[in-house]
This record gives sequence, structure tokens and C-alpha cells, in this order.
Amino acid sequence: MFATSSLTGSKPEQYAQLLDQARALVHGEGDRIANAANLAALVYHALPDLNWVGFYLHDGKELVVGPFQGLPACVRIPLHKGVCGAAATQRQTQRIDDVDAFPGHIACDSASRSELVVPLVKHDQLIGVFDIDSPVLARFDADDQAGLEAIAQVFLDALG
Ligand code: SME
Repeated sequence: MFATSSLTGSKPEQYAQLLDQARALVHGEGDRIANAANLAALVYHALPDLNWVGFYLHDGKELVVGPFQGLPACVRIPLHKGVCGAAATQRQTQRIDDVDAFPGHIACDSASRSELVVPLVKHDQLIGVFDIDSPVLARFDADDQAGLEAIAQVFLDALG
């Protein structure tokens, strides 16, 4: 059984603890669906003020929803659409304080107010994106971005 322990200390310290938990969760496992499912669950339950945490995986043409926690979501996202598409095509994390101000934002859950999307790229190949939504405006700061990028890297490293 995986026992979660609550995070303590400063935000960077909390992310360091979460990163250790993420590494332990994927240790010895290379299956991307299994790891995506467990990492989505870990992050969703560990961090406050989130309404959706999950993965979109690139099928060679567009982004297809993968393991997630939260309400049912849009199944397919073209690469030129939404915050997820922007992260995938620009290969840069998108940290959006107000999703209503982002042209083309795709509202899967109307409660979402801010969003962080990390591109998943390995050996120059687009694997997908790691998408985290919040019902709170400007929920994500630079510490959140660094912490969630590190967790995305744990997923990529486990791919083998
Ligand atoms: N808001 C995203 C779509 C995915 S949902 O947030 C789960 C976007 O604009 O790409």
C-alpha cells in the first residue's frame, strides 16, 4: 500500500517531498499509463485548490486524454488548440493566471480559473502534456511550475 504523508515546510520543501513520493511511485515501473495514473492521483490529492490533474498523450496527430483525476474531460485536443496545444507545440510550460484571458482556452471544467501545462518531450519526441487546473485565479507560481515540471520529468525518466 502506498501511504501518503502530508507535506510540510516551505513550498519548495513540500515539492521536494512530493518529488520523493513521485519517484517512489514509479520506481521499477515503465508502463506509461500506470505511471500517469498514479502521478495524477498523487498530485491531485497532495496539493490544495486543484480541480483537474492529468495527462494528454500524443497519438502522432493530436492530444488524447489519458489518466486523470477530476471531472470527465475533452477527449481530443488538436495541437493548435488550447493551453495544452500551446504547451505541446511551443514545447514550453504554459502558466496561465486567468484561463478566460487565454485566447482559445478549452473549458473542459467550467470551474477552472487558472492552469499549468507542462510539455512532455523525450529524445525530441512529443509524448504529451501534463495538465493541472485550479478553480482559483493565479493558483500557480514559479515554485509550482518548478515542482510540477520536476514531477513531469519523473514520468519521462520512467519511460525507459
Ligand atoms: N483547458 C485545457 C483543456 C484540457 S482541460 O483543462 C482538462 C486547454 O485549454 O488546453
